[in-house]
Amino acid sequence: MTKKVVVTRQIKDEHLNQLKEKFEVFMWDSAGEPLPREQFLEEIKDADAALTMLSETVDAEMFETAKNLKVVANLAVGYDNIDLETAKENDVTITNTPEVLTETTAELAFTLMLTSARRVIKANRELEAGDWTGWSPYHMAGTDVFGKTIGVFGMGSIGAAFARRLKGFDCKIIYHNRSESKYAADLNAELVSFDELLEQSDFVLCAAPLTDETKYKFDKSAFGKMKSEAHFINIGRGAHVVEADLKEAVETGEIAAAALDVFDGEPISKDHPFIGMDNMTLLPHIGSASVATRDNMVQLCVDNIMNVLEGKAPLTQVK
Ligand code: GLV
Ligand code: GLV
Repeated sequence: MTKKVVVTRQIKDEHLNQLKEKFEVFMWDSAGEPLPREQFLEEIKDADAALTMLSETVDAEMFETAKNLKVVANLAVGYDNIDLETAKENDVTITNTPEVLTETTAELAFTLMLTSARRVIKANRELEAGDWTGWSPYHMAGTDVFGKTIGVFGMGSIGAAFARRLKGFDCKIIYHNRSESKYAADLNAELVSFDELLEQSDFVLCAAPLTDETKYKFDKSAFGKMKSEAHFINIGRGAHVVEADLKEAVETGEIAAAALDVFDGEPISKDHPFIGMDNMTLLPHIGSASVATRDNMVQLCVDNIMNVLEGKAPLTQVK
């Protein structure tokens, strides 16, 4: 019997056709809108594989429904949308897309840092609103990055690719991980405690995976330990942060600014408390969004599905 693959967002023909050559494929025909949950559960019932996004909750209810499922290929490096334990109990292989998105995501982190430091979005808004009254000495004056102390929470491959980009900036690099990072020596980066990271950094980057240990790690107490000049940058997950505490920290000047690519509950609407706040740079989760990298991520998902359905080892299994 032909095996069935469920693809939960529209992908390009060049990728889709590789699957279609060998399998029956259901593809949700929208690139923008997520596949409705009910339809996902319906289509997954007789599926052997699924190519999923962060927007799908791959949980016990889904595994219960999907009796034939062998592999879920998640189009992301993060997999906090997937219940790994239940996947294991059901003998379903989970794969993600590490490495192929590392440099692209690091570049977005760097973009957020510079944008926040130099108030780029606020300055652009002023200009476009017709409110630019002319040059003046401290107009839109921000802060420098060069020579500063940069703290990386989660010195994995993305954190390291970000830190590597600081080489021309003459920065001091410190980081916090559970243990020594294999990237640290090359970067001349110093392992410090979480509190030291908060106390010493001028820019704090959260690039860690979301786990029980890192969830809501950035709370009132954490922001309270940061310098009042510090900027907080998040490319990890929204749930690393207690958003009400971050709002208060920026509002009261406990920290200088925040630059975020991720939110606790996405997408956010224009009613979100962060919208319209001074000193907040907000992006709609575009960390790995270059065309070339998204192509590579989709191809990796396709390869993982092919491999598992053809009895070979997956390329990037989450264990
Ligand atoms: C995106 O956030 C990812 O985990 O790849
Ligand atoms: C993210 O933190 C990674 O290690 O790739």
